[in-house]
Amino acid sequence: MAGLGMASVTVVATGDPGDAGDPGDPGDPGGLAAFATEQALTRVDDRAQVPAEHFALAIEAGCVALFPPAARPDLGSLPLIIDFTERAYARPLARKDTLARATGWKGGYRPPVVDLTAGLGRDAWALAGGGCRVTAVERHPVVHRLLADALARAAARPALASVAERITLLGGDVLSDRPPALPVSAETVWYLDPMFPLRKKSSLVKKPMRLFHHLVGDDTDATELFAWARRQAGARWVVKRPPDAPTIDEARPGVEYRSGRLRFDAYLPR
Ligand SMILES: C[S@@+](CC[C@H](N)C(=O)[O-])C[C@H]1O[C@@H](n2cnc3c(N)ncnc32)[C@H](O)[C@@H]1O
Repeated sequence: MAGLGMASVTVVATGDPGDAGDPGDPGDPGGLAAFATEQALTRVDDRAQVPAEHFALAIEAGCVALFPPAARPDLGSLPLIIDFTERAYARPLARKDTLARATGWKGGYRPPVVDLTAGLGRDAWALAGGGCRVTAVERHPVVHRLLADALARAAARPALASVAERITLLGGDVLSDRPPALPVSAETVWYLDPMFPLRKKSSLVKKPMRLFHHLVGDDTDATELFAWARRQAGARWVVKRPPDAPTIDEARPGVEYRSGRLRFDAYLPR
C-alpha cells in the first residue's frame, strides 16, 4: 500500500468503543470509536480538531465518510461515502454486460466470485446484484470500514438486503502473513481490479476518486496478487485493466472482453 497511508487519518468520533467494538453498536455510530482504538489512530471529538494535512474519518448524515485533508484543496471538500442506494447502483448487471460475460455467466448460472480487490465495492455489488455470491477482500482498513458501513446500511433496507447478503466482506490481504480464509472451489472466479496510476490529467478525474487514489496509492504488488490467485483452484481469473494497458503479466489472456473504456482479461485453467 503506498500513498498517504494510515498515519494521515484522524477519526472523529464521540461514541464509546464499548467492549465488543461492534459496528452496529448504537453507542458508537459507524463503529468509528472502536475502529480508532483497533487501528491505533488519533481520535478527536470534532472535525475542526483534525490536522490540516490529515484525512478525517467521520459520520456524515448517518454514513461513515472520509473527508479530504483541508491542506489539499485539489481534492475538494466533499467526503467519500459508499452508498449503494445511489442511482448508479440501481441497474442490475445483465448477462450481456461485459463484466457478466467476463466472469462466465451462462443462462441462469452465476459463478461464485472472489473479488481480491474490493475497493469501493462497485464491481462486487454489480456481480451480487446479478446473483453471484461474492467474497470481497479489502486490505486498506479505512476502505474496509467505508465498505462495511455501506453494506450494513444496504442490509437494513428491504429492497437491497438480498444483494448485500450475497456479499461477504473480509478485511486483509492474501499476500500478508495473516491471509483471510477464502471459500475456494473448482467453480471459483477470481476477480482483480488493482489500482493503477491515474491515467487522465488529474483535473479530469472526479474529486472523490482522486481522494480514494490518494488514500490507497498504487497497488504495486498487483502482479504478485495475480500470480497468487493463479495458483488457486478455480474456473476463471479475470483482471480489469485500462483499455490500452499491457496485460498484468507476460501470459496472454484466454479471452479479452471490451466495451467502451473497459477491458477485462479472462484467463482459463492451465
Ligand atoms: C481500484 S480499487 C478496486 C475498485 C473496485 N473494483 C470497485 O469496483 O470499487 C483497488 C482496491 O484493491 C485493494 N487491494 C489491492 N491489492 C489488494 C490485496 N492484495 N488484498 C486486498 N485488497 C487489495 C486496494 O486497497 C483498493 O482499495
